[in-house]
Amino acid sequence: MKAVQVVSPGNMQMIEKEKPMIEHDHEVLIKVKMVGICGSDMHIYHGTNPLATLPRIIGHEVTGEIVEVGKGVTGLQAGDKVVIEPIETCGKCYACRLGRRNVCRELEVYGVHRDGGMQEYIVMPEHLVHKVSPDLDWAEAVLVEPFTIGAQANWRGNVQKGDTVFIMGAGPIGLCCLKIAKLKGATCIISDLSDERLSFAKSWGADYILNASCVNVREEIMKITNGEGANVVIDAVCIPQTFADAVEIASVAGRVVTLGFDSRFSQIPQLSITKKELTILGSRLQTNQFPEVIKLFNEGTLKTDGMVTQRFTIDEVKDAFSFIEKEPNQVRKAVIEF
Ligand SMILES: NC(=O)c1ccc[n+]([C@@H]2O[C@H](COP(=O)([O-])OP(=O)(O)OC[C@H]3O[C@@H](n4cnc5c(N)ncnc54)[C@H](O)[C@@H]3O)[C@@H](O)[C@H]2O)c1
Ligand SMILES: [Zn+2]
Ligand SMILES: [Zn+2]
Repeated sequence: MKAVQVVSPGNMQMIEKEKPMIEHDHEVLIKVKMVGICGSDMHIYHGTNPLATLPRIIGHEVTGEIVEVGKGVTGLQAGDKVVIEPIETCGKCYACRLGRRNVCRELEVYGVHRDGGMQEYIVMPEHLVHKVSPDLDWAEAVLVEPFTIGAQANWRGNVQKGDTVFIMGAGPIGLCCLKIAKLKGATCIISDLSDERLSFAKSWGADYILNASCVNVREEIMKITNGEGANVVIDAVCIPQTFADAVEIASVAGRVVTLGFDSRFSQIPQLSITKKELTILGSRLQTNQFPEVIKLFNEGTLKTDGMVTQRFTIDEVKDAFSFIEKEPNQVRKAVIEF
């Protein structure tokens, strides 16, 4: 069967490998139907993801159909439409004991630390496979994973009905944060540098859009909030400057949620944090968000129209990556269809 492997930085190949087989009673065999391409896949491809080990079959935004189940599997059966929760954890460390498995000391992400879903079949343990409604399109189901990232950021920021939430960046992650914040009843402001991305964000429910290359974002937010600032700032741009800005834009008793993996320093005065008694929170992947996000998808509360912008076959995977690089403003989410 076919699989997409990053062999070394800049070298991605479509390889032939044996179809995997169920080896343990609690595993299921999934026929992969669609895989989303994420910014982190691009980083693995370019050798700029310090966590990834190569060679690696990439892909962590995965949906497919169960074709076979192990003897001990109780909750799934052949024919089920499913999505994969791509994290493996130790179950013993402090984070795992607290129920925050996503920051497990020995965290391994499928498609990053171990082989992921960009292959025709994958075997997964039952507990990391979630059933979705058969009525969902593959192009909806494939978005469950990125929406769990948005749900986690909202959970970390304790977004409440009536809050004003400022989301920095209208890329796929910012958009997922936006949808979830709207469903929670927040007023949402979103910024980007691209008018096209901003007008899409508007169509997805943003109450205010700000082009950070044209306006002073901080001043605009103070105007919108009558000088209060945003109760929650979610940084989905993730550069040193946006993190520093977030601390200044947050209201008293506000929350600042960071999603980035940038190791450069930001300049942040402690005065702003202490005076406003801010809470600054990291948000990494997700814990326990799959059931809630799947419920929103299944009941049709969360609509994802327009998010998937390009579809490629597995044979066109190199074209897909080049397209994303050449035309970033035309791509919200590109997917590989099997
Ligand atoms: N913590 C996690 O679990 C997690 C998961 C996935 C992605 N991420 C991170 O989230 C970030 C966003 O991911 P994405 O896929 O949406 O990326 P993206 O690059 O598609 O989107 C970023 C957006 O920010 C905009 N932007 C750039 N500079 C800006 C500025 N100064 N002000 C406002 N907007 C600006 C860009 O135009 C772009 O639309 C990345 O850094 C990624 O690594 C974190
Ligand atoms: Zn991703
Ligand atoms: Zn652990």
